[in-house]
Amino acid sequence: RVPVTALLQRPADAIVRPQHAAHPKIPLPGDLFAPERRNSRGVEFGARAALDRLLTEVKAETIDLKPIADATPDQANAAMAAARAGFAAWSRTPAATRAAALEQAAHLLENRAPHFIALLQREGGKTLDDALSELREATDFCRYYAAQGRKLFGNDVAMPGPTGESNALAMRGRGVFVAISPWNFPLAIFLGQVTAALMAGNSVVAKPAEQTPRIAVEAVRLLHEAGIPASALHLVTGDGRIGAALAAHPDIGGIVFTGSTEVARSINRALAARDGPIVPLIAETGGINTMIADATALPEQVADDVVTSAFRSAGQRCSALRLLFVQEDVADRMIEMIAGAARELKIGDPSDVATHIGPVIDVEAKQRLDAHIARMRREARLHFAGTAPEGCFVAPHIFELGDAGQLTEEVFGPILHVVRYRAENLERVLQAIERTGYGLTLGIHSRIDDTIEAIVDRVQIGNIYVNRNMIGAVVGVQPFGGNGLSGTGPKAGGPHYLAGFATEQTVTINT
Ligand code: NAD
Ligand code: ALA
Repeated sequence: RVPVTALLQRPADAIVRPQHAAHPKIPLPGDLFAPERRNSRGVEFGARAALDRLLTEVKAETIDLKPIADATPDQANAAMAAARAGFAAWSRTPAATRAAALEQAAHLLENRAPHFIALLQREGGKTLDDALSELREATDFCRYYAAQGRKLFGNDVAMPGPTGESNALAMRGRGVFVAISPWNFPLAIFLGQVTAALMAGNSVVAKPAEQTPRIAVEAVRLLHEAGIPASALHLVTGDGRIGAALAAHPDIGGIVFTGSTEVARSINRALAARDGPIVPLIAETGGINTMIADATALPEQVADDVVTSAFRSAGQRCSALRLLFVQEDVADRMIEMIAGAARELKIGDPSDVATHIGPVIDVEAKQRLDAHIARMRREARLHFAGTAPEGCFVAPHIFELGDAGQLTEEVFGPILHVVRYRAENLERVLQAIERTGYGLTLGIHSRIDDTIEAIVDRVQIGNIYVNRNMIGAVVGVQPFGGNGLSGTGPKAGGPHYLAGFATEQTVTINT
C-alpha cells in the first residue's frame, strides 16, 4: 500500500517557486504536515506553528454568504458604457503605474490570506490545501503580469529605418476586454484574466461564474483599493445569459474566456455574427486529459501521481487526469496500487485540515457525475468506488474501459478511466489521444528517454508532464494552456500571454 496520505500533501506547488519566497501568512502547502518544532523555551516556531495560527485566523473569519443579485441587462450595458469611457484614461496610464497597482493587489491578498482562504472554502468548497495553492497562484499572476507588463509596455520599441526616418512600435490596450471566468478557480483565474487585460492597458468588464460571485466581488474591491480606477474595472454578475449578452455587445475590444469548450464555441459564433470590429477571443477550455504509464515506470510513483492528478480538487481541474493508458504487462499491479492509494483519501468537510477531497461545486454537478458513474457501472469494469458523506460529495471511482472511445466528453469530477495497451500498440494509444480532439495536459510515466521523446514529438498538447503529476501549473514556471478543443493556445502565466491582450501600433516619422 502506498503511503499516499502524506504524499498527497506534496502537490506540484511544493516544487521550486522562483517567483516568490514563502510568505509568512501563506505557508507552502507542502509545509502543512511539517513536523512541529519548539525552541528551548517550548515556544512553537516554523511552518507548523504558522499553519496553526493561520487555521485559527481562518476559523475566526466571518463570511457573508447572502446571495448576490445578478446584474440586469441594463446594468450590463451600463458597465460596458462606463468601461468604454474609462478606457481612454487607463490606456494612457504609464505601464509602471499599472504594474504597481497589481503588485499592491498581491500584497493586499497576502495580508488578507485568512479571509480569502475562508471565502474560497465556504463559497468554492476548497480544501485548505487547494485554497492555499489558489491564493498563491492569484498573487503569482498579479506579480508576474506586473513584471512582464513593465517589460512589454514600459517603452516603445525603436525599429530600424533609413536616415531621415524614425520608426517606433508601441503596444496598447485594445479597448474594453470582457473577462468570463469559471467557478473552479474563482480567485486565481478570475484575477489572472482581469490583471492580464488591465496590465495590457484595457478597461475590463468581468463576468465571474454564477456559482462564485462573492469571491469576484471581493477581488474587484481589492483591485480598486490597490489602485485600479473604478472606471477601468467593472463587475457584472449573472449566469451564461448575461455572459452571452456581453459577448455579443458591439463595444467589446476582446474577450478572454475560461470554461467549457461548448461555451467557447458559442462565444465564437456570437463574435462572428455581431456587427462592429473584428475582435480576438482568448479561450482556455477543458480536456480529456490522458496519462501513459509503461512497464518501466516506477509503480509507487505512478500510483501517487495518478491519485493526485485524477482526484485532487475532487477532479474539478481542467488539467486533471481523466484517462490512464497503462501497459498490459503491469496493468493489474498498477491498478491495484492506484486503488489502494485512493482508498486512503479522506472525503468531507473542506475546512478540516485532514480532508483530501471536498465537495463538488453544486447539485447539478453531482447529478451529472452520478449519472456518469451509473453509466460506467453498466458499461465498464469497476475497480474502485470510494465512499462519500451525504451531500454534494462524489467519491473517487476507477473504471476500466474496453476502448478509449467510450469516453467521449470531459467528465469534471473524481472519476478515473483506465485502458490497457500492449507495448507494440503505443501508436494506437497516440491515435486515440489525438481522436479526442483535446490538447490540454498529458502525463508520461516511463524510464525510456526514446519513448518519452517520441511521444512529446508526436502529440499537440499544451502541457506535458513527465514522471510526475500533471496538475498545478506554476505561474512563470509552467505556462499553461491547450490546443484544439482545449483552447486557442495562449499560455496563462507565460511570457507571451499579455501580448494577446494588446494591439500594436507602428509610428513612422519623416524627420
Ligand atoms: P462554463 O463554460 O459552464 O462557464 C464558464 C463561464 O461562462 C461562466 O462564467 C458562465 O456563466 C459563462 N457562460 C455560460 N454560458 C455562456 C454563454 N453562452 N456565453 C457567455 N458566457 C457563458 O464552465 P464552468 O462549468 O464554469 O467551468 C468548468 C469548465 O472550465 C471545464 O470545462 C474546465 O475544463 C474549464 N476550465 C478550463 C481551464 C483552462 O485554463 N483551460 C481552467 C479552468 C476551467
Ligand atoms: N492551472 C491549473 C492546473 O494546472 C488548472 O492545474
